[in-house]
Amino acid sequence: MGNQSWVLITGASSGIGKALALRYAKAGHSLVLVARTAEMLDALSEFISKQFHVRVIVMPKDLTKTDAPKEIFSELLRQGIRLDVCINNAGAGQSGLFENIDQERNDDIINLNIRALTEMTNLAIHHMRQHGGGKILNVASTGSYQPGPYIAVYYASKAYVLSLTQALRHELKGSGLTVSALCPGSTATEFSKRAGKADIKGAMQPNKVADCAYRGVLKGKAVIIPGFMNKAFIAASKLLPGRLSASIVARVQRKLTSSL
Ligand SMILES: NC(=O)c1ccc[n+]([C@@H]2O[C@H](COP(=O)([O-])OP(=O)(O)OC[C@H]3O[C@@H](n4cnc5c(N)ncnc54)[C@H](OP(=O)(O)O)[C@@H]3O)[C@@H](O)[C@H]2O)c1
Repeated sequence: MGNQSWVLITGASSGIGKALALRYAKAGHSLVLVARTAEMLDALSEFISKQFHVRVIVMPKDLTKTDAPKEIFSELLRQGIRLDVCINNAGAGQSGLFENIDQERNDDIINLNIRALTEMTNLAIHHMRQHGGGKILNVASTGSYQPGPYIAVYYASKAYVLSLTQALRHELKGSGLTVSALCPGSTATEFSKRAGKADIKGAMQPNKVADCAYRGVLKGKAVIIPGFMNKAFIAASKLLPGRLSASIVARVQRKLTSSL
């Protein structure tokens, strides 16, 4: 695939992933877009190819399925695509009292946010090592920094994403590969509706998050936190005892979740 620079984005059909696709296309990168909904990926691909004259390949995949990450990287190999950037953005959560959430739903969240992200990161490292370097961005959350009563599995999964990313960053020092974590706060996407809670007023727009992520990845930053309020929130979370952070999150989640 010549000298094109390729960026793979999971969860590219809506929200932050879609905004990232538009941001990278604007900068002239060709794209591999992954999500479940083929029609949304096709529509985005058509728009991006016309608007930005870059190549776009869509891979409709359900990342909760065990084989999905291997299938994606086999397809990259088959098509001779060499990734420069791999963005593990697809993620989901579920609000509510832990004991009332179906284990099947928790399994889907864990398989997507943790298992698929872990394997995608592993495969991306092997893929990029063969080409001498690259950049990986894992989408965590401000929720990576404190316990999340009434959205517990999601917050725990995002703590995992941040921890994994920081550990790998250390292992990959001097390798030509950088791995960064993006920690957005509340962002105006489909996420809240899908997680069964109301939107937070004043949520950040996904294009602002994507802009910040794009610049952060270019600089090879370890942790990218979009917006002053989110930076302040994370700084405060680091100072507060866990039980206090938990009671603040609990109060917010109770207000947003009608089932509580
Ligand atoms: N919005 C926020 O307030 C917020 C805050 C902090 C962090 N985040 C994180 O940001 C990331 C993006 O979320 P978003 O806010 O943009 O939410 P979103 O609008 O719901 O987007 C989620 C994306 O993931 C894809 N996806 C969901 N399940 C999938 C699966 N099983 N296999 C493959 N793709 C799947 C969705 O597409 P399909 O449905 O077509 O598969 C969609 O493209 C997530 O990791 C989320 O945890 C969001």
